[in-house]
Amino acid sequence: MTAYPHLFSPLEIGNVTVRNRIMQTAHVKLWAYDAADSERNVAYQAARAKGGAGLLITGNRVVHPTSTTGFPRVAWAYRPEALESDHRLTSAVHEHGALIFAQLNHFGLNATSDSADDLRVLWGPSAVKSPAYGETPKAMEHEDIHEVVEWWGRSAELTREGGFDGTEVHISHSYLLHQFLSPLYNKREDEYGGSFENRLRFAREVIQEVRARGGDDWVVGVRISLTDFIPGALDVEDAVRVAQLLEADGQIDYVNVTAAGYHNIFRAIEPADVPDGYLVELTARVKAGVPDVPVFTVGGIKDPAMAEEILASGKADMVAMTRAQIADPEFANKVRDAREGELVHCIRGNQGCIGRVFRGLPITCTVNPGAGRERRFGPGTLLPTDRPVRWLVAGGGPAGMKAAAVLAERGHRVTLVEREDELGGQVNLILRTPGRDEFGWITRDLEAQLRRHGVDVRLGTEATSELVHELAPDAVMVATGAVPSRTGFSSVNPLVDQLPGADQDNVLTVWDVLLETRPVGRRVVVLDDDGTRYAAGVTEVLLDRGSEVELVSRWPMLFPTTATTLDMAHLYGRLLGKGLQYRLNWWAAGIERNRVALFNLYTAAQDAIDDVDTVVLATGPTANDALYRALKGQFANVRRIGDCVAPRKLDHAIYEGELAGRELWSPEERYIYEGELERVEAQITVKA
Ligand SMILES: Cc1cc2nc3c(=O)[nH]c(=O)nc-3n(C[C@H](O)[C@H](O)[C@H](O)COP(=O)(O)O)c2cc1C
Ligand code: SF4
Repeated sequence: MTAYPHLFSPLEIGNVTVRNRIMQTAHVKLWAYDAADSERNVAYQAARAKGGAGLLITGNRVVHPTSTTGFPRVAWAYRPEALESDHRLTSAVHEHGALIFAQLNHFGLNATSDSADDLRVLWGPSAVKSPAYGETPKAMEHEDIHEVVEWWGRSAELTREGGFDGTEVHISHSYLLHQFLSPLYNKREDEYGGSFENRLRFAREVIQEVRARGGDDWVVGVRISLTDFIPGALDVEDAVRVAQLLEADGQIDYVNVTAAGYHNIFRAIEPADVPDGYLVELTARVKAGVPDVPVFTVGGIKDPAMAEEILASGKADMVAMTRAQIADPEFANKVRDAREGELVHCIRGNQGCIGRVFRGLPITCTVNPGAGRERRFGPGTLLPTDRPVRWLVAGGGPAGMKAAAVLAERGHRVTLVEREDELGGQVNLILRTPGRDEFGWITRDLEAQLRRHGVDVRLGTEATSELVHELAPDAVMVATGAVPSRTGFSSVNPLVDQLPGADQDNVLTVWDVLLETRPVGRRVVVLDDDGTRYAAGVTEVLLDRGSEVELVSRWPMLFPTTATTLDMAHLYGRLLGKGLQYRLNWWAAGIERNRVALFNLYTAAQDAIDDVDTVVLATGPTANDALYRALKGQFANVRRIGDCVAPRKLDHAIYEGELAGRELWSPEERYIYEGELERVEAQITVKA
């Protein structure tokens, strides 16, 4: 008997029955090959189907050549050439008992006219600029609208032929059909503009065509926006109305929801700054409006108890846990089999998934190196070692923990030593900054893996050459991480190795502030060479502790790396609201007691900030490689991984831990060549 009876009860949607209420909503992955969803996608989706999910929805596929995208390698739904790979995809999912729908979409004006190999014209309801790309589209003429309707229908036909159990018409995220619906984009005065019914007309025509061409015995659903989150634009009342009108048309089998658009897309794919389940209450309003139609909810849900409550209280009929299952493909089976302690939790940092999409890179996952690399690192690819030895792992940060867990799982005897009294390394610093509580799952999940695989963990134990001699392991993995740089070096001033005055006692590092190892004064200058969430985090901590903060950034915008991970808006809102002062494109020439001398990067103008009590260097860490250097040459088998090789992001630490745990060292074993995961015939190197 499961603890989650609602979650594991079947649901009828149109003519199909889904085995449980756990699904993944559409998520584009940028793995298309020859414009079709590739073998990489087959392996990814099959792993989630095998892992117990009931329903999967492909990333959005475009229905017409005028739908360019803002990123490469999106699948095209209108090409019969894709049928072969679609058959492989749908068969693989069906083989494991799950169902799969394909989401069809036209990006409309929220794309770029030069994203494809050729140059095109964007189509939109009106000549309104894209808030994301700043480009002006052509306002669609009637024949354009009819053409898209026809191509959408053609795409639906092919989708059905490809073996999909249904299709989802995308009317959200401010793509074309949502653009027609929303007053933010639709300024038309013909029968496709003005009144609510007029603005919904295009979507209804598409749905009708899809139903006509897909057939009555095939699932057709919609994804609608709960709200634009902009006063005066669409809100939840409109969402209820859309759902009711579409239900009354009798053409749809389900309503899936999401929210926001390119003005504020972070509100659809929220980072960890907001609580789990952030769209559930709005979904409940739609569900109440269409009680007889299956309604799916979504939004930072990863806790099975929360999902169960949503279903039990009738707020939705199906719970999407999309990123939760990017992070853990076996989520559903683990929950069903009371193995929740084995879950790998999504931390909603958005670095590995959507953050990479917005950088034009294929998705993966910070906490799950196997995501998108299933053929190399997915479930079932970890093989036991044929030569078990005794490993010593030095350092209990994410890289060391991951390596130790994987080595032990493969049958090695592993001891992990950590200097501090707790595991986690720099994760513990991240946890001291606001909005990052979810990152605690990294340590908790890795600790659980260490326990499960019998790693001998020794806290408060510094790894030294002496200790290594004493323990005499067969092999040593150095994962000693990084230490903060105290030089104030910035590559905008590359000939100055040490910023004058950086050695003063009122100059602190980010770590000093977060660990509260040194006092901080009232007036603080943060020198941000980093541009990351780290710098933002320490700045917010300082503001929260009551300091007056002026941030001097060498970057042309505040914390630029947080744009793609979608936490920028939260950070700006909070930090500016708390009184942050800042200047961009400036850097420090030197610090003289309480004065910070500055220069502008472009004009070379000089300025100074006086009466500064404390200067904080957000200039990034440097590799802590002392142990590695001490051991190298003394021991035959010494490896190093993570930040002690070169300081990088969390994703890298965990990824390198995975590689190291599998003992993949040679270039042939380590590096994945472009197309290797996408091509059916590619040889995948999995070490025995
Ligand atoms: C990498 C990535 C790609 C996405 N692509 C799509 C997409 O193609 N179509 C869509 O409707 N939503 C897309 N989304 C939004 C998700 O469907 C979902 O609404 C969002 O991730 C919030 O749900 P979650 O917190 O369960 O992940 C994407 C999300 C991610 C993380
Ligand atoms: S990359 Fe981060 S946000 Fe995305 S699925 Fe993985 S853990 Fe979640």
